[in-house]
Amino acid sequence: MYKMKKKSIIFLVCILTLLFTGCTVEKVKLPAQKEITSKNLKDVFLEHGMKVGTCVSANVKNDEKMSALILEQFNSVTMENAMKPDYILNQERSKTEGKLVVEFNQEALSVLGWAKNNGLSMRGHTLIWYSQTPEWIFHEGFDTNGAYVGRETMLARMESMISGVFEELDRLGYINLFYAYDVINEAWMEDGTIRKNHWTETIGDDYLWYAFYYADKYAPDYIDLYYNDYNEQYKADTLSAFVNTLKDDDGRYLIDGIGLQAHLFTADDFVGYLAAVDTLAETGLKLQVTELDIGLGKYQSPLTATDANLRTQGKFYYELINGLFTRADAGKIKMDSITFWGFSDGISWRKEYSPQLYDSDLDPKYSLYGALQVKEYAGY
Ligand code: GLA
Repeated sequence: MYKMKKKSIIFLVCILTLLFTGCTVEKVKLPAQKEITSKNLKDVFLEHGMKVGTCVSANVKNDEKMSALILEQFNSVTMENAMKPDYILNQERSKTEGKLVVEFNQEALSVLGWAKNNGLSMRGHTLIWYSQTPEWIFHEGFDTNGAYVGRETMLARMESMISGVFEELDRLGYINLFYAYDVINEAWMEDGTIRKNHWTETIGDDYLWYAFYYADKYAPDYIDLYYNDYNEQYKADTLSAFVNTLKDDDGRYLIDGIGLQAHLFTADDFVGYLAAVDTLAETGLKLQVTELDIGLGKYQSPLTATDANLRTQGKFYYELINGLFTRADAGKIKMDSITFWGFSDGISWRKEYSPQLYDSDLDPKYSLYGALQVKEYAGY
């Protein structure tokens, strides 16, 4: 009787422990990278004429272990948030000066300084977007109590914001870190229509053309101007037709490239994805992968990080990057950089899908070896 009780208690404690620890899956530890290859990500990507990047925040850059990993593996960074419209405008100064005034915050300045000191290149992200953009910029008096402004006023504000970004980067001595800038993020829907937002309401659908017109006017020539979007594998025809409209009166492109966010899942079809890349390459524009992560499972149903699922992910990374390298080497696509949206599952915006190259202990996953094109350790 006493024995039975003891057994039941032990059973109960086990169940509770499992519940509280989230039924953890035992981790298969892979060999460290230096035991397998002397090449880092930046060495491997350079062999195909590409930079390799990650997004970064001040917290990540201030963490000794993570910043050391970035400097070892990557040569390009994108600010995860700090250069989005929400964080680069000064409302009070805009009211006083009667135009949108750009002022970078401490986070942006500290990341810019760190990038400069460490020889990192930068992707700018992002000038015009429907999201993470202050509401007050669309209102009379730069105040949400005012009515929405009209087309001419909003175009002037757009111009002051875009010119302000490039002038401020120049004034601060950071402009030449940038080789690409996202002029517009996520303007098209999967059904081929333009996403309705405050830019379309105040200016009209041609806000898209004007954004590129101003960016082309104020950005130095060495900064490539990008249109960036997600679900690009379903938007290839829409985007190809769109970029064709981004020309000046002489027929010259105002845009340099299309940014492929590549927020993918292991349930996606990488062959279909690469076919969309081929369609977009027919525009003749450059292409960059700008926010790559490959989540386990699919959007509605994440999968746990079992050895089998992580192997599937490693193979997906291997095949996708191999397909891009092969195309770039053959001159079929003009791709000079691939950026991952992070590097560690622990700090990913989609951590429930374990989408990155390293796990939350910063140990390498099959996906790292997939990205490094070391097939034997990529999960095969
Ligand atoms: C989009 C944006 C990124 C980021 C992610 C979520 O892809 O382009 O800047 O906000 O969503 O982290």
